[in-house]
Amino acid sequence: MRIATTIQEVRAFIAELRSERQSSEAGNLVGFVPTMGYLHEGHASLLRRARRECGIVALSIFVNPIQFGPNEDLDRYPRSEAADLELAEREGVDVVFLPSVEEMYPRERKTTVTVTGLTDVLCGASRPGHFDGVATVVSKLFNIVKPDRAFFGAKDAQQVAVLQKMVSDLNMDIEIVPCPIVREEDGLALSSRNVYLSAEQRSEALVLSRSLREASARIESSSPATPEQIVEDVKRAIEASPLAEIDYVQMLSFPDLSPLDQKRDLSELRKSGGSVILALAVKFGSTRLIDNAIISFK
Ligand code: PAF
Repeated sequence: MRIATTIQEVRAFIAELRSERQSSEAGNLVGFVPTMGYLHEGHASLLRRARRECGIVALSIFVNPIQFGPNEDLDRYPRSEAADLELAEREGVDVVFLPSVEEMYPRERKTTVTVTGLTDVLCGASRPGHFDGVATVVSKLFNIVKPDRAFFGAKDAQQVAVLQKMVSDLNMDIEIVPCPIVREEDGLALSSRNVYLSAEQRSEALVLSRSLREASARIESSSPATPEQIVEDVKRAIEASPLAEIDYVQMLSFPDLSPLDQKRDLSELRKSGGSVILALAVKFGSTRLIDNAIISFK
């Protein structure tokens, strides 16, 4: 496994691998997994999928300062470079890109990538500027690594929708591959931020996956509930946990993230063949967790 800290190095490593593997059975497609490190089983599942589908697997680890708001957790974002590199080695990563902030942002930046509309709702509404930071750094990483496919977890479903739109609008020749949410056995969605939770907060946080599971079953069944009723029931379940503070619970169409008629029951949607997302963000102490369920009426 090669480790690059500069843009020049990572480009050179990938160019070498592309030419070495040109005629290998696995091929020389580059599969890319961008991360902010503190890797867990969710990231490992993205790396495995990339390994299965691509002859070359690149991983980036970069805590991107421009996607954090002024009062967010940039300074205490968990880091564990040695453990991350061990996991990467175990998962058969070919190249790890570990740039410094100065390498990624060496001078005053005058360019920002903004995806409009999709970023005004859900996390975009509570974290102004967050998705500009994500779209900008991911564009930079795509230009550096030049992957064929990039793998992202569906826990950040809005991020996936924003990046798919960016890639399509800017004619980037990259396939965004959304991968299923990975959960602990008891249902908690894996997140680097789970380490911040106390035992009590962690136990209460199980209400998130539980209420999403129950709501999904209702949405999929022939229940006559409206989006408004489903959202209210999820909120009520979460509010019963004294340590939970809801940021949002919302149901929107997916992947365009446009509003649904909140008062109309779901029968027309079921017939339409489209998809909906039931998404939530909830704080336990200072730790903000997100989770979602995407239901397709195919
Ligand atoms: O999902 C993340 O970890 C980050 O938002 C990403 C895509 C690596 C960009 O910094």
